Amino acid sequence: MADTPLSPKLIEETLQEILDMKDEEQLALCEHKYFGRKDGWMTVEMKKIKDLPAEERKEKAKGLNTFKSKILEAIAARREQLSAPDADVLQKETVDFSLNLPKREQGHLHLVHEFIAQVEEVFGRMGFDVMYSTEVESEDLNFTQLNFPVNHPSRDAQDTFWIKGTTGKERKLLRTHTSPGQIRYMRSHKPPFRAVFPGKVYRKDADATHSPMFHQFEGLMIGEHITLANMKAIMVTAIRELISKDAEFRFRTGFFPFVEPGLEVDVRWRSEEQQTKEGTWLEIVGCGMVHPNVLKNCNIDPEKWQGFAFGFGIDRMVMIRHQIPSIRSLFPGDLRFLKQF
Ligand code: PHE
Repeated sequence: MADTPLSPKLIEETLQEILDMKDEEQLALCEHKYFGRKDGWMTVEMKKIKDLPAEERKEKAKGLNTFKSKILEAIAARREQLSAPDADVLQKETVDFSLNLPKREQGHLHLVHEFIAQVEEVFGRMGFDVMYSTEVESEDLNFTQLNFPVNHPSRDAQDTFWIKGTTGKERKLLRTHTSPGQIRYMRSHKPPFRAVFPGKVYRKDADATHSPMFHQFEGLMIGEHITLANMKAIMVTAIRELISKDAEFRFRTGFFPFVEPGLEVDVRWRSEEQQTKEGTWLEIVGCGMVHPNVLKNCNIDPEKWQGFAFGFGIDRMVMIRHQIPSIRSLFPGDLRFLKQF
């Protein structure tokens, strides 16, 4: 066959022609040259098919269609190349919207909440359940069920926020510690169990290390063979994980009506200014073996079950960890303070 319109040379030249188009306008003219509705090359060739002898039609149509899609593909590819901005232009025309704008602000959890999340994580790993107990509590659960004598000084109006208009058995207060959570938990669960109860507590107290509202987390572990040694191990783990692995601490005997024996743990705190060797000892936790009377008040047989309870002062631990000299800085929500962490 002579040089038909579909020789490889023709195909190659056509594709090259498309590649040589310098801009989108040229490319559009080229496209028209091939596909113009009236006299485009491809349009004309397609029309000619019907005049061919029947045996040649199929072959010719197939060849033309293949060629057509190649041209269309080449045009589309070239069009994309031509419309993409080149690197130079891109660079020149880029606008940096961040210029002169203030740095992006990013919030974070309050130090106390961040700490509580960590308490739940650390104790969760040791198998402790988490419960949030109520802040408005009855005098009965806050004191009586916890073995406080009827005229114990902490029931005094000088120390406790009483809820106005509540009297007798219904007398209510803002809980002075998270310990009533122990009663609620023991009355709604069957031993053995272990749980922590974080939350806010309220006392009429205010100075650099005391605030009328502060945070504690209570802990309780009851089982058949739980001893003081188990308690000590948990206290040490909690202090190392929640304050620092080289925290210095000491156990002292302490008195709480709902434990026997009772202990207190102090952690050594050196503020940045007073970098003396001794620093100060800050009490951060009260703990002890749950008093048999308290177990009985919750229908748990003290002959069979024993265990320990503890109450950590969260805010003091946060102060020690972040070197904050006054507990009062933690609560006003002053951004100048909060942004430092
Ligand atoms: N509730 C005690 C307090 O607020 C702490 C404590 C909890 C002590 C559990 C012993 C056992 O001081």
